[in-house]
Amino acid sequence: MEIAKVAVVGLGSMGSGIAQLAVEAGFETVGRELTPELGEKAKAQITRFLARKVEKGQLDAGADEAAVARLSLTTDFADLADCDLVIEAAFESLEVKQQLFSELEAVVRPDAILASNTSALSVTEIASLTERPERVVGMHFFNPAPLMPLVEIVRAERTDEQVFETAYAFAERLGKQPIRCNDTPGFVVNRILIPLLNDCVRVLDEAGVSVEDLDKAMKFGAGWPMGPATLADLVGLDIHVHASEALYEKLREPRMAPPPRLARMATAGKLGRKSGEGFYRYD
Ligand code: CAA
Repeated sequence: MEIAKVAVVGLGSMGSGIAQLAVEAGFETVGRELTPELGEKAKAQITRFLARKVEKGQLDAGADEAAVARLSLTTDFADLADCDLVIEAAFESLEVKQQLFSELEAVVRPDAILASNTSALSVTEIASLTERPERVVGMHFFNPAPLMPLVEIVRAERTDEQVFETAYAFAERLGKQPIRCNDTPGFVVNRILIPLLNDCVRVLDEAGVSVEDLDKAMKFGAGWPMGPATLADLVGLDIHVHASEALYEKLREPRMAPPPRLARMATAGKLGRKSGEGFYRYD
C-alpha cells in the first residue's frame, strides 16, 4: 500500500519528533492534539529543530520551511479522514489508547493503517476493541525520535502481513533502521533496557556511588552514549516507571518492577528534563 498522507495523534516529545520526521521525509502530515495551544507548541519546536539543522548544514536552506508547511494541526479527528497511516503517540494508558483507536476507526478509510508508538503496552490489547485489528501495528520509535535510528515494527496477533511490511517500508522512508518483532512485553529494547536501568538505580543505593559517578561509570566503563541517570531524565521518569510497571505486571520478574527511589521521584513530579528536575536539574 502506498502511504501519501500521515497523521500523528499526540504531539508530546515523541509525537512531535515523529511528525518532524514525516514532514522532513516529504509526507503531508496532520498533527492532532487536544488543544490548539499544544499543537502550536509542538509546531514551534519542530520549526526550531529544523532551522537548527539548516544552520548546521544538515538540511538545505528553505527545506525547513517547506517541511513545516507540510504540517497541519487539528484537534478534530474528522480531519484525519483521508490519511493513509495514523501513528498514535498519546498517553501510555491502555484505556486511553483503546478509546482513541475506536474513535480513529470511526473516521478513517477501511484500508488506513493504525499504528501505535506504545513502548510497553500490548499492541494486541490496544487493537482488541477495533473492528479491524488486522490493520493495527506497532511502530515504536526511540527518544529522541529524530535522532535515534531504531524503530521496532511490532506484529500484533492479528496484524496483516501487508500492513506490517508497509509500516516497515514507511520507517525506512523516514531514514530509520527498522526491525521486525512480535508483540511480547517490552518488545526487544525495553525488555532489556528497562530492567537494566532499574538495576542502575538500585546500584545507586547499594554501591554508595553518586549520580554523577554512576553516569561516568556506564559512559566510560561500558561505552554508553549517555549515563543511565541522564538517560532516565531524558526518557522521563514517569514514562520509565509506567513502562516498568507494565512489564512487571506481565512478566512478574522483580527486576522489572520500578525501584522505590524512581517511583518516589515520579510521584513527586521529578520527571527529568521535561519538568526541570530529575536526577539532575535543568534550567
Ligand atoms: N531534531 C533535530 N535535532 C535535534 C532534535 C530534534 N528533535 N533534538 C535534539 N536535536 C539536536 C540538538 O539540538 C543537538 O544539536 P545542537 O547542540 O547542535 O543544537 C543535537 O541534536 C544533539 O546534540 P548532542 O551533542 O547531544 O548529540 P549526541 O551526539 O550526544 O547524541 C543522542 C545525542 C543521540 C541522544 C545520544 O546521546 C544517545 O544516543 N543517547 C542515548 C539515547 C537513548 O538511549 N534513547 C533511547 C531511550 S529508551 C526509549 O526511548 C524507549 C522507550 O520506550 C522509553
